[in-house]
Amino acid sequence: MQYQEKLNVVVIASGRGSNFQALIDAQEKKETPFRIVRLVTDNRDAKAIEKAKKAGIEHHIVERKRFGSRAEYDYALADAVKPEETGLVCLAGYMRILGKSFLDRFDGNVINIHPALLPSFPGLDAQQQALDYGVKISGCTVHFVDEGVDTGKVIIQSAVPVLADDSADSLSLRILEQEHRIYPEAVRLIATGAVQVPGARTKP
Ligand code: GRF
Repeated sequence: MQYQEKLNVVVIASGRGSNFQALIDAQEKKETPFRIVRLVTDNRDAKAIEKAKKAGIEHHIVERKRFGSRAEYDYALADAVKPEETGLVCLAGYMRILGKSFLDRFDGNVINIHPALLPSFPGLDAQQQALDYGVKISGCTVHFVDEGVDTGKVIIQSAVPVLADDSADSLSLRILEQEHRIYPEAVRLIATGAVQVPGARTKP
């Protein structure tokens, strides 16, 4: 299938950027209906920056400490993403909660990946939360972002077993493998219109 028009994607990441890399790898395959146009990060030491440079993707750093209020910071972050040119914002290990002054500028076109089967274990240390609870199955979720913590509408999930001798690290690795598979798939579903964005607008 030939895609006439590609969805412009901006990734926001704070750290390692392995999901960002999975999206880069997916777009390098032929006929992917999206293109990553920019990386935005709040952390000048993020490993994701190296990945952007290697892939020839521009990056912008917006540090929280340069802004007084959270609303001012969120507004500057949205400016760096450039709402008028961006069809979809993908959070990939972005370690802050996005406020209304950011979300209002993207009309629901913001998604996130979380390393648990939501609505179980939202927030930080989801893999450790799953181990502490003693669940036998965990996984990952790609979801739309609203003002809550990991509360938006679910797009795709993938499940993995939790093994008796798992540590947070071993479980995280098993989940990460699935994250790298379903995140590009979720972007593809949105780019092709197979999944409707809540509050959708015309895509740039
Ligand atoms: C992933 O586990 C993701 O689910 C969570 O943060 C981690 C980011 O990892 N939101 P990476 O930076 O993509 O490698």
